[in-house]
Amino acid sequence: MDKLMDPSSKETRTLYESFPFPSGATPHLVSHWTNLLVDYINEKKLAPRIKSFLDAGCGTGDIVINFSKTFPKIEFQALDLSSSSIMIAQAKMQHEKINNITFEVKDLLSLDSKEKFDCITSLGVIHHTASPQRCLKNLVTALKPKGIIFIDLYGYYGYHHVDRGQKLVNILEPDFEKLNCRLEAMNWIVSSFYGIQPPSDIHHPHYIALVDGFVNPRASSYKIIDALKLLKESGLVNVEWWDRPKISNKNITYLSAKGQSFDIPIPSQWAHCLRDLSTDEQYRFFELCFTPFDFFLVGQKQ
Ligand SMILES: C[S@@+](CC[C@H](N)C(=O)[O-])C[C@H]1O[C@@H](n2cnc3c(N)ncnc32)[C@H](O)[C@@H]1O
Repeated sequence: MDKLMDPSSKETRTLYESFPFPSGATPHLVSHWTNLLVDYINEKKLAPRIKSFLDAGCGTGDIVINFSKTFPKIEFQALDLSSSSIMIAQAKMQHEKINNITFEVKDLLSLDSKEKFDCITSLGVIHHTASPQRCLKNLVTALKPKGIIFIDLYGYYGYHHVDRGQKLVNILEPDFEKLNCRLEAMNWIVSSFYGIQPPSDIHHPHYIALVDGFVNPRASSYKIIDALKLLKESGLVNVEWWDRPKISNKNITYLSAKGQSFDIPIPSQWAHCLRDLSTDEQYRFFELCFTPFDFFLVGQKQ
């Protein structure tokens, strides 16, 4: 595996071998992302067309296992850099008596998939790689013509407070292999400057969530315009921000990552102004209003 791995991926792997993710750290995101994808597939009536499905960067497999239960006729492949995450995912699959997922340890930065897929998800993954462009390009290559891809990327404004802490940890201990020192740096930073007391049990889901954010070697975050550009430049079409707030005559409806829906009334004097904005301008307006932590994006291969 090491020979097939990009050198920068080893740094990321060090973290996720010791702290497989999500391991219960983000149950709300597991169900939110499952629901968004299932809603998209049902709304566009895509299920009969999807025979093969890749989850790229599956972590401990929670999301792909949910998909495989919802779509039992689809054949799933799920890849991740971290062998400990893959082992947990395989154990879960056996426990749930599921037999339509193949899990494999693989680096997406050197992915050269002979197999092509009708649908690919890569959720919370490519922004942690040293080259999100290369990673996305490899995924688009693995997509069949007309295939659909779902990407989740960190939002520039919403992710800012975590990004700040991650940079502080990188200053205190820049050697990504010295994980224990980096954990100590995180403990000090979050307790002193964020008012967060990390749990003493390092296997606690809250601790895993903190580590995923603050001890990660790197994470790129995107303004929505740049996130859409990244997808378009990799050759995708029909690119959309799928979990964007929706606008009606009277309300902006915003679905939070915790699955709660809010209707925010639009004062009548602004209704026209908002409706007249171009799609990109509306996206920008909502990005500034809601400062989303992440964007759930969808695109299609030509
Ligand atoms: C934040 S976790 C997200 C896991 C899962 N997609 C979820 O949403 O629950 C990021 C995952 O990406 C994997 N990852 C990061 N870089 C990778 C790469 N170059 N190749 C394969 N997997 C990678 C990590 O090992 C980790 O499991």
